[in-house]
Amino acid sequence: MLPYLLDWAHLALRWLHLIAGAAWIGASFYFNWLNNNIRPVSLGPTGEVVPGPEGEIVGDVWSVHGGAFYRALKKGYTIEKLPEPLHWFYWEAYTTWLSGIGLMIVVYWVNAAAWMVGPLEAGPAVAVGVGSLIVGWVVYDLLCKTPLVARPAVFGWVVFGLFTAAAWALSSLLPARAAYMHVGAMIGTIMAANVYFVIIPSQRKMVDLAAKGLPPDLSFGAEGGLRSLHNNYLTLPVLFVMVSNHFPFTYGSPYGWVVLAAVGATGVMIRHVFNLKGKGQAYGACVAASVVSGTVIVLAMAPWPKQDAAIHVSWEQAAPIVASRCAGCHTASPSQPGFTSPPLGLVLETEAQSRAVAAKIGTMVASGVMPLGNLTAMTEPERATLVAWAKAQR
Ligand code: HEC
Repeated sequence: MLPYLLDWAHLALRWLHLIAGAAWIGASFYFNWLNNNIRPVSLGPTGEVVPGPEGEIVGDVWSVHGGAFYRALKKGYTIEKLPEPLHWFYWEAYTTWLSGIGLMIVVYWVNAAAWMVGPLEAGPAVAVGVGSLIVGWVVYDLLCKTPLVARPAVFGWVVFGLFTAAAWALSSLLPARAAYMHVGAMIGTIMAANVYFVIIPSQRKMVDLAAKGLPPDLSFGAEGGLRSLHNNYLTLPVLFVMVSNHFPFTYGSPYGWVVLAAVGATGVMIRHVFNLKGKGQAYGACVAASVVSGTVIVLAMAPWPKQDAAIHVSWEQAAPIVASRCAGCHTASPSQPGFTSPPLGLVLETEAQSRAVAAKIGTMVASGVMPLGNLTAMTEPERATLVAWAKAQR
């Protein structure tokens, strides 16, 4: 009964995570779009926005959606009277983070024996996982307080280097799939912490000043704005980690951490294209760089060539390994405790069923992701035999 109820908890959290994440990213993309598309209402001689007298509207944008016209107005920093109600946007971020951590607990940390055990035992592996989320935020936040932050390109490369190092370190301490998910959770934690510790507090100070009718302190807006911009660039990499779950050839590749870094960097470039386009700046070079980088990744990861017949492994040799090490879970009614149905509906009982997913079997078994947590105690020679069989199927 418990595994069944845990499956529902897992499903409910995943559903919530997706809904809240869509609301968070949707709001963030919308406000980014709004900022890029608001036309200044009054322009100076060189086209710059002239902040008008107190409370002046500095820009507006018209849009049509769902059968109605909308006009959004952007106000200057000084407002005469605090409007009621004033809408804030934070529950999306907090719910996304809380449901994400819930998923991490239900899927990875509670089931550490299955999902976290690899180079490390369950306890230390979970400690590394939890620690990575805290260390990630602390290091990033400290970096944001150095002068480096004023030089966006250098800052971007340093952060990229640190994330890559984290991906490498986690890949050498945790099973491939858990390593990916923890890098994603680390980025997600930084994004949510940016909202909680910086963006919302600085907005609160801004609003407090306005409520007291005091002149604006632009540094508050700038501080929150910078972290918002960082979050904006982090959205595509974090979404990649989420979907990578369904693509074992990414995290299961022998250089999974390089793949993560390369695809993450491409995601940042794609985001940059949209930001440049939004600001009306030239973005052709950035599109070209994204295409080149995407092509290099696809070519570099192209599958291994078919193995020669010398190390040919027949299905007769592979079958008993699959039956003893995999079929406990991957069968119509699994015997492995905790499994109520074959994971992902994947049944590995016959040669045809196994051949159909041979490529996945190759990556999953070679990278040690399967058998899950090596709960079925597969030996190294068996692993080598099964991988050789899988490679020969291409
Ligand atoms: C203890 C249970 C268990 C054992 C034993 C096990 N698996 Fe899995 N396997 C899983 C689970 C759980 C998933 C689903 C992962 C997910 O949610 O994406 C899975 C997924 C897979 C996938 C699909 C990956 C994808 O994303 O499409 C393949 C291929 C696979 N296993 C192969 C194997 C092979 C080969 C063996 C034996 C060497 C094996 N598994 C043993 C639990 C197990």
